[in-house]
Amino acid sequence: MDIQNVDYTTKIPNNVNLAEDRQVLRALESWHPGYIDWWMDMGPEGFQQALVYLRTAVSVDPKGWAKFDYVKMPDYRWGILLAPQEEGRTIPFGRHYGEPVWQDVPGEYRAMLRRLVVIQGDTEPASVEQQRHLGKTAPSLYDLRNVFQVNVEEGRHLWAMVYLLQKYFGRDGRQEAAELLQRRSGDADKPRMLGAFNEATPDWLSFHMFTFFTDRDGKMQLESLAQSGFDPLSRTCRFMLTEEAHHMFVGETGVGRTIQRTCEAMRAAGIEDPTDIDKIRALGVIDLPTIQKKLNLHYTLSLDLFGSEVSTNAANCFTAGLKGRFQETKIDDDHRLEHATYPVLKFVDGEIKRVDEPALTAINMRLRDDYTADCQRGLDRWNKIIDKTGVAFKLELPHVGFHRQIGEFKDVRVSPAGQIVDEATWNRDRSQWLPSKDDGDFIASLMKPVTEPGQFASWIAPPRIGIDNKPGDFEYVKIAA
Ligand SMILES: [Fe+2]
Ligand SMILES: [Fe+2]
Repeated sequence: MDIQNVDYTTKIPNNVNLAEDRQVLRALESWHPGYIDWWMDMGPEGFQQALVYLRTAVSVDPKGWAKFDYVKMPDYRWGILLAPQEEGRTIPFGRHYGEPVWQDVPGEYRAMLRRLVVIQGDTEPASVEQQRHLGKTAPSLYDLRNVFQVNVEEGRHLWAMVYLLQKYFGRDGRQEAAELLQRRSGDADKPRMLGAFNEATPDWLSFHMFTFFTDRDGKMQLESLAQSGFDPLSRTCRFMLTEEAHHMFVGETGVGRTIQRTCEAMRAAGIEDPTDIDKIRALGVIDLPTIQKKLNLHYTLSLDLFGSEVSTNAANCFTAGLKGRFQETKIDDDHRLEHATYPVLKFVDGEIKRVDEPALTAINMRLRDDYTADCQRGLDRWNKIIDKTGVAFKLELPHVGFHRQIGEFKDVRVSPAGQIVDEATWNRDRSQWLPSKDDGDFIASLMKPVTEPGQFASWIAPPRIGIDNKPGDFEYVKIAA
């Protein structure tokens, strides 16, 4: 079988020759019913019978992998898709730098590797659970399709991790695969593993912020796992990244269209002052200061996903050759980092200071810095939208010490501008920095479903081009009667 083409003859579409890998095929087939049960229970509520215009992978070739068609989500062909094996690939970093990549799990790194796969795997179903109520308040059929596309692909990412667990980790892999279907986002007893994946996604601005900031953390994690010396993990993550790009497109354009609509409404009403919140809200759009607060929240929750700035665990994963840096192969250094340092922002003697740490233990920090730079590029594009309308306002990323639950700044109050503040100041100004209950209630009041093809809610502009180049009034979702 050609590795580029996906085999749809087995129950589970794949390009890993599952038809001849009977044991793994059987393990996946016995996991499948539990997955479908999970999807029916925890997937998009109220839309399981709707026909959704979705893309499905028919080839992993970057130029032609997606085919669009109407499908009911429970019938989506979730498959196992790995990027093609690269001939002669070598381990690009760590102690084993330059050695041939592993096609099997190295025994000494088995536990560490399994943990990486499980943590990644746990985030995928978590986001589907977080987003399951959004369909009921979608601002358009176009947006409704987008959230469902993201959801089915996160489901596929779970399959991708479960394949690795079942093929390479034997009995404990099967156990972990089962547990991935048992944890629930936000559950008091069996929560998902990472904080941001237990937060609520109550409205569409939250969803777009989530796909911009939190899916972008996902991209950075996948980028660093795509460097892995364990080749099946690398190939899996490389293909997942092609899907992840769409999730970030949904987030960036979703927030961008919200900003655009706000600015256009302000101009049309002759409102100059972006902080004239009552007047702006009366137009049925979301004021820019509130968008800034939502951004502050989602950015900082996502920063926590990178873990502690200084981490021996991260150093061990790097040295072992399991998890590299962003664009590892393009970095011009020795890729072992035994003698290198990296600057880390720390809280020392009551002050925020830049301290040189061993580059190995600062691996998380470096990935997070790359993430911040990537976020900033997105903000620059949002600010251009504001500029073009002539509204005087600029969105900014808050200081990395602001509103943190993990790492150096978890026990200190830092303002978005990077000032250390006391508890009284924090309590006084908190509602200017993070969304308040009022802000949430106002946003919720705008979340009215729009299901007429080509129509959009008051608070968001239409997209410039349709998905798969469809016209503006295309019926992206045929909602079942
Ligand atoms: Fe994902
Ligand atoms: Fe994603």
